[in-house]
Amino acid sequence: MLWLKYYFQKPAKGFDPVPKGFAEKYADNEYKKVDSKVLDAIKTQLTDFEDKTVLDLGAGPGQYSIEFAKRGAKVTWHDISRNYLKIARDRAETENVALDYSLGYLEEAHGQFDVLFNRICWYYCINDYLFAKRIYNLVKDNGYGFIVVNNEKFLKQELAKEAGLKKLIIKMSYWLNENFNIKLTHVHPSHQKLSRIFAGLSFQRLQVEQHGHNTLITFNK
Ligand SMILES: C[S@@+](CC[C@H](N)C(=O)[O-])C[C@H]1O[C@@H](n2cnc3c(N)ncnc32)[C@H](O)[C@@H]1O
Repeated sequence: MLWLKYYFQKPAKGFDPVPKGFAEKYADNEYKKVDSKVLDAIKTQLTDFEDKTVLDLGAGPGQYSIEFAKRGAKVTWHDISRNYLKIARDRAETENVALDYSLGYLEEAHGQFDVLFNRICWYYCINDYLFAKRIYNLVKDNGYGFIVVNNEKFLKQELAKEAGLKKLIIKMSYWLNENFNIKLTHVHPSHQKLSRIFAGLSFQRLQVEQHGHNTLITFNK
């Protein structure tokens, strides 16, 4: 069960699921391809980033944290990985921007923010419904959320690379999560499940769109 990790693998005690070499490679690649359309889409909702509080939840190397901060936002970087923390900190220093840093599991982020940004790390949460509720609570009233989730189409591509018992376990894990909301492994939710989860929360405006293997969820609380 995923929740056991919380007790036995604590980032405060040195646990880091992301090896240094992998983190550096991912960072090099991602810093080159920051998507300006994402930044523009968020800016449209805010009028301006200036002085807005932003939580980059599962921020990784911090490529988006830094872009928000450059535009005047007060950004909190939150992630489980110390290796990514070092990369984000070094990069922020080089770019001469200030970020706040918070190390922990996705579910351990706290506070309330004008903007919540969560990109391609949803599947690391321990329970899809509870995580959506946590996200909801992390956003101020009238605040804005921008969430990109790899959905079942992404999982299908990943499954095509697998075989044998591992493939069977992933398939079973997906089925359990979809039908009984039980997560045995870090498995991707379907677009349909995400739509259902967010439809159960109360928003001024909610949009859940499928873009191929990603689901984009945007809302005004
Ligand atoms: C694919 S990366 C995405 C990083 C970043 N959001 C981006 O857009 O590039 C997934 C991130 O989730 C983080 N992560 C994995 N498991 C986590 C957990 N249980 N709690 C918090 N972060 C986690 C990893 O350290 C990594 O930064």
